[in-house]
Amino acid sequence: MIVEKIIVTGSCGFIGFNFIKSLNENYEIIGIDSINNAYDPKLKELRLEELKKISNFKYLKIDLSEKNEIQNNKKTLSESSTIFHLAARAGVRQSYLEPNKYIRDNTTASVNVASMAKELKINNVILASTSSIYGDTGNTFATENKDELNEPPSIYAATKSFGETLIKNVLSGDDQKIKIGRFFTVYGPYGRPDMSILRFIHWISTDQEVIIYGDGNQRRSFTYVEDIINGLNKLKNYEESDTFNFGSDITWSLIEIISKIETLLGKKANLVFKERAFRDVDVVLPNLNKSKENLDWQPRIDIDEGLNRTIDWYKNNENYLKNIKFKYKYEK
Ligand code: UGA
Repeated sequence: MIVEKIIVTGSCGFIGFNFIKSLNENYEIIGIDSINNAYDPKLKELRLEELKKISNFKYLKIDLSEKNEIQNNKKTLSESSTIFHLAARAGVRQSYLEPNKYIRDNTTASVNVASMAKELKINNVILASTSSIYGDTGNTFATENKDELNEPPSIYAATKSFGETLIKNVLSGDDQKIKIGRFFTVYGPYGRPDMSILRFIHWISTDQEVIIYGDGNQRRSFTYVEDIINGLNKLKNYEESDTFNFGSDITWSLIEIISKIETLLGKKANLVFKERAFRDVDVVLPNLNKSKENLDWQPRIDIDEGLNRTIDWYKNNENYLKNIKFKYKYEK
C-alpha cells in the first residue's frame, strides 16, 4: 500500500539508484535523471533498467538546470512529501576541465530544485553534499560548522559548497526543512567508474594497469553505500534543518585498499604511478559526533565487508562491466 510519494533526483546515479532500490512498496517514487555523459551513460542505463522493475517507480528524464523542464512536469511532481536531491556533477579531477558544467549542475540545478520545493510546498528537502568541501583535514576531524571551512579546494568542491548555500537561502524563512548530508568517498555496488575503488577492482580483475595518481599514500574515509542510505533515512525523519557528516572515522590509503583487493581477488595488481592530481588532498577525516548524537548514525559496514560485497557484485556483472568505460579521454 502506497502511503507516501517522494522525489529522488539523480535516480540513475550511484547513490540515488542504491537508495531507491532500498525502499519498500510504501513509497511512490518519482526518479529524475538526465542520464548525461559525465561518465559512461551505459552504467546509468543499466541502473535504470533495474529501477524499471520496481512497480511504484516512475522515471522522468529531466535536466534540472533547465527550469522549464521541471515546470512541464509539475503535475507528476506535486503532492510529494520529500525531495532527495542527490543529482550532481561529481568528480574532483574532471571539474577543472569542464567548470561550467559543474556550475550549472551543482548550483543552477540546485536552485531550481529548491524553487520547485517551494512552489509545490514540498517541506522536506534533503541535499547530498560532499566531504570535498573540507579540503585536507590532516589529523583533525572536520566538523560541519561552515564558518570553520577553508576555501573549497577544487572547482567541484566550490560548486557543491555554493549549492548548499543557495539551497538554504532559497528555502530560508519558510516552513521547509533543508537537511544536508556531507558524504565521504562513497563506494559499493553500481559505483562510479571514475572513482578509485571500483576502478582498482576492475583493472586488477581484467589484468590492466592500475593507475595511481601520486604515491598511493593519500588516505580517504571510504564509506560503504548502505551506510549512506541509512543516513538518508535518518535525515528524512529528522525534524530540523541542519548539516551532518556521513563518513568512516577510519581512513585507508590507496596502497592499503589495493592490497586488500588483491587478496580478495587472488590476483596481483600491476601498479603504474602517475603525477599526483592537481590540488589532490592527502587525508579527509570526518568528525561524527553530531551525526552520532542527533541522528544515532554511525558507519556499520567496515572496509573488508564493503570491499567483499562490492567485488561480489562486480563478479556477478563482469560481462556487462567489461563494456563500460572506466577512463576519460584525457586519461592515457
Ligand atoms: C570522491 C568523489 O569523486 C566525489 O564525488 C566525492 O564527493 C568525494 O569523494 C567526497 O567524498 O567528498 P575523490 O577523493 O577524488 O572524490 O575520490 P576517488 O575518485 O575515489 O579518489 C581517491 C584518490 O584516489 C585520489 O587521490 C585520486 O587521485 C586517486 N585515484 C583515483 C587514483 O590514484 N587513480 C584513479 O584511477 C582514481
